Amino acid sequence: MDTKFKITKNENSKISEVDFDNIPFGKIFSDHMFTADYKDGEWGNFQIVPFGPIQIHPACLALHYGQSIFEGMKATKSYSGDPLLFRPEMHATRINASARRMAMPEFPEDVFVEAIHAIVGLDQKWIPPAEGSALYIRPFMFANGEYIGVGPSDTYKFVIFTGPVGPYYPKPIGLVAEEFYVRAAVGGTGEAKACGNYAGSLLPTELAKQKGYDQVLWLDGKEYKYVQEAGTMNLFFVIDDVVITPATDGAILKGITRDSLLAILDSFGYKIEVRPITIDEIVKASKNGLLQEAFGAGTAVVVANIDRIKYKDNVLKLPVPEKQKVANFLRNEINGIRSQKKADEFDWIVPVKAPEAIKA
Ligand SMILES: Cc1ncc(COP(=O)(O)O)c(C=O)c1O
Repeated sequence: MDTKFKITKNENSKISEVDFDNIPFGKIFSDHMFTADYKDGEWGNFQIVPFGPIQIHPACLALHYGQSIFEGMKATKSYSGDPLLFRPEMHATRINASARRMAMPEFPEDVFVEAIHAIVGLDQKWIPPAEGSALYIRPFMFANGEYIGVGPSDTYKFVIFTGPVGPYYPKPIGLVAEEFYVRAAVGGTGEAKACGNYAGSLLPTELAKQKGYDQVLWLDGKEYKYVQEAGTMNLFFVIDDVVITPATDGAILKGITRDSLLAILDSFGYKIEVRPITIDEIVKASKNGLLQEAFGAGTAVVVANIDRIKYKDNVLKLPVPEKQKVANFLRNEINGIRSQKKADEFDWIVPVKAPEAIKA
């Protein structure tokens, strides 16, 4: 594969400073980043450069009006040491769905995927070898027009950087079902990976932490009745041997992990229901002893066991992680597929093909 990217290699690699047995999430960055610029109606200036600060103007539109979107994906190593990507085309498609919602230009999906191959190929030594660890990949796009005025920018920057990560939530997590604050309403921006969605979630999440929980369980913005998602995870519940996840309704992010887990569950013959689910149904199932499991699913967390859910005066207690059989089975399957220890019957795994210029 040849490349249209201009490549400037980092001559001062920081990899020898990294303790791969002890990686804090999101704080270590690999040696290179990919950048591209949008101006005069098209994307160009495709480059791979040493990772470092980006200069922006004080009037940078993204800082003022929030036109900024991102993706989160992971590269892993196979048990034999080959770098692998997981469903990269789905991330390329989703960033463009986010772009359309935020009145931003779409990024060419073939260039997105090629850039991921190039950047991961170049920094493949940064992929941690342990199962459950990965090279986190952060593609993002922001409006960098240099003027004040509410309206879509006429210039944008697209960047991809990466960094090694260990497991996200090593312990089971507790959620508080939020009765006042709202993450997203139908018709809003909840289905886009738009930065403002996350900013709006910070205060309620801090309040949940003050109560001794890890994340907010978001309810719908109209009736505060239907379960949406939590933090950066889609949610699953196992009630009376049926695995239930909320149907995406425009306010819930269409998680790629969610989609993958549903496919695995289906192929193993689990009973699945994808439908609106109310918090009252979950409380009732818990009271009747039928709530067997609850877990979150997302690129960062993979599969996170939930051990407590607070709603009003009820604190629903869930079985200890070892007894959450479906969650543990799914984590094992998806990590196994990602390390090629298990067969990839869905064709999700894409071996990294670095351009010739990078191998040189
Ligand atoms: C709000 C939100 N929900 C769900 C998810 C899970 O999505 P995915 O499995 O694609 O990472 C994420 C993470 O991307 C997220 O930010």
